[in-house]
Amino acid sequence: MSNNEFLRPEAKIRVVIPNPSNDPVGSEKVFYTNFYKDHTDDSPEGSRLSLIKRARPLIETLEEGEWVLDVGAGRQILEKEYLQNYPAPKAKILTFDIADLKSEQLLAEDKENVFHIRGNGARLPFPDESISLAISNMAFDFMPKKARSELFRVTKPGASILFNLHHSSLVSTQNINSIEEHMRKLSRKIFMHGDRQTPKVTSLKKEHKMAGDILIHRDYLKKSKKLSDCEEQVRQTFQRFEIQKVALGQNINGTWWEVDMKKPLSTR
Ligand SMILES: C[S@@+](CC[C@H](N)C(=O)[O-])C[C@H]1O[C@@H](n2cnc3c(N)ncnc32)[C@H](O)[C@@H]1O
Repeated sequence: MSNNEFLRPEAKIRVVIPNPSNDPVGSEKVFYTNFYKDHTDDSPEGSRLSLIKRARPLIETLEEGEWVLDVGAGRQILEKEYLQNYPAPKAKILTFDIADLKSEQLLAEDKENVFHIRGNGARLPFPDESISLAISNMAFDFMPKKARSELFRVTKPGASILFNLHHSSLVSTQNINSIEEHMRKLSRKIFMHGDRQTPKVTSLKKEHKMAGDILIHRDYLKKSKKLSDCEEQVRQTFQRFEIQKVALGQNINGTWWEVDMKKPLSTR
């Protein structure tokens, strides 16, 4: 479904499409746009399954005219999986992501209930208290701090917010060991040929290139202190919300934080 259709008056929510030239995280837009050009790796399947399981009972209680917002939804893989397994909800689902994704890259947009908007989580183009349920899988912690107050602003009082966030380990030790081993071999080969330049991630095999990109990104996230490694840090991040559960989810592809919260009914 196109953005134009989303803007129809009966859609009952007014959207201001952000001007990309004012985007303070333009470099992140480029990073994520390119990531989705090269890779189709979205998120650990286990994290999506867990979020769908937690969100489904709530989505099913929502009425027509209500909105679910998925912040940092990427290619809509979670929505695709939801709609493949469960009946389309009465509420509409709005996916939001900084990457410039072409409509053919979006996996669920053609479904009548799912709309996609490109933008930065730090400036949500939605009215105050317009969102009944906010979800986010492995994305909100990548966004600037301002995204938290934006989330607070756009959610209705009492709205549920169900997020999965990255654990600071981000990439499994097994993956890191394999990438590092590959890079060591590559650097020995380059050295033997008398070329002293540092091996670039672009010269790695395809499967290692993806993991290498993730590794570089992880270092950036660690340096900018965006990843949490303890529950207290997660609670601190969302101190304006009523936190109902913080748990650690894990499978062979990664470790993540599961955070279930509500916007307080009274925000005074
Ligand atoms: C690891 S992916 C997860 C995508 C999706 N939620 C999933 O479960 O597969 C993280 C997503 O966060 C998005 N993102 C990062 N920073 C953002 C920002 N400032 N505003 C909006 N989206 C952002 C990226 O473009 C990317 O699609």
